[in-house]
Amino acid sequence: MAGSQEAAYQYARTLYDSGAPLFSKATRELMTQLEAIRSTGVAASVTVTTPDGEAIDLGTSGTPNIFEDTAGFQQIGINPHISYDHFRNFATLQVKHNLKATYLPLVPHYECRQADVVTGELVPRQKPLPSYEETLEGFQRERTKWDTGRQCEELRRVLRSAEIPRVGNIVAFACGTMHLMEHDGFRAERALQHALILTLRDFLGLSEGKCLARDPSYEDADKKVLSDEGITVVDDAHGFLAVDNESVVFSAYPDVPIRAVVADIARPAVMIWNDVSDPRTPSTGSDGEIHLCADPVTPRLIDIIREQHVRFDFPDDEAFGRLAIYIRKS
Ligand SMILES: C[S@@+](CC[C@H](N)C(=O)[O-])C[C@H]1O[C@@H](n2cnc3c(N)ncnc32)[C@H](O)[C@@H]1O
Repeated sequence: MAGSQEAAYQYARTLYDSGAPLFSKATRELMTQLEAIRSTGVAASVTVTTPDGEAIDLGTSGTPNIFEDTAGFQQIGINPHISYDHFRNFATLQVKHNLKATYLPLVPHYECRQADVVTGELVPRQKPLPSYEETLEGFQRERTKWDTGRQCEELRRVLRSAEIPRVGNIVAFACGTMHLMEHDGFRAERALQHALILTLRDFLGLSEGKCLARDPSYEDADKKVLSDEGITVVDDAHGFLAVDNESVVFSAYPDVPIRAVVADIARPAVMIWNDVSDPRTPSTGSDGEIHLCADPVTPRLIDIIREQHVRFDFPDDEAFGRLAIYIRKS
């Protein structure tokens, strides 16, 4: 690889057009390394595989920076997890000082928190956290609306009309905390997305423990309400690693390339996610160039869906945006 922006663009473009899987091996490798760092709390060297199979040793550069700030506190990185960057975005990124690192689809990422310099104790966040009671009350209110509403009935009708392959679990990504970041209010549409998971579980006759949800923004209150309902919140790449050919995968407007990662890992029985023909998530702009998008539609994804899935409209609803239901031909 030559070290220029143009070379980076060409490299990314070639990979993008080739339909090569990018995430399957690297996701498992990196997660295992980060789990070891999380459990020991000790910084360690991290190795990540590039899309063309080269192992890049990031040294301990992927481990948390600790630096003192002026008020006698230090900023520390905690809870290492994987940050995903679809390779298509590499083309628009600055080529990094370490050229090879420019092409990594996954890198370690740390949650940055303020801690006391002397004791190392984390400073509590300033805004109050949402309470369990108000989260539960909001969730139950929206769930009742959803359960008795037109969209839920319409969704059941679509599912009844389809031939659904054997299903073993439901994995929901990026449904979001049911409260705004700053605890300014309850997010009804996110409660509805979680209520939908329960509709799917009931429709498919799955037992508790077979519904998983992954979103790094969940607060403790979200986790407890979801756990009460039999939805298990999982960490880091455990959501992806639970996806197999008997999964139902749900995601709406994620900040990560959920569709591309899932397409690398498995051929799920059902995918309910953003319509791949939605012009708001273009794969290539009208100018023919590759554009930034958190959850891009790739030629690989389009081919898989066209060849292996039947598409159904997702019942129109503002809370869900433009989604579609893709059911695998058995
Ligand atoms: C634009 S919000 C969409 C939330 C919700 N689905 C909605 O429609 O309002 C994107 C979500 O992606 C989540 N996200 C970010 N990284 C993620 C990851 N690695 N796995 C799953 N979700 C992630 C964010 O926390 C956020 O909740």
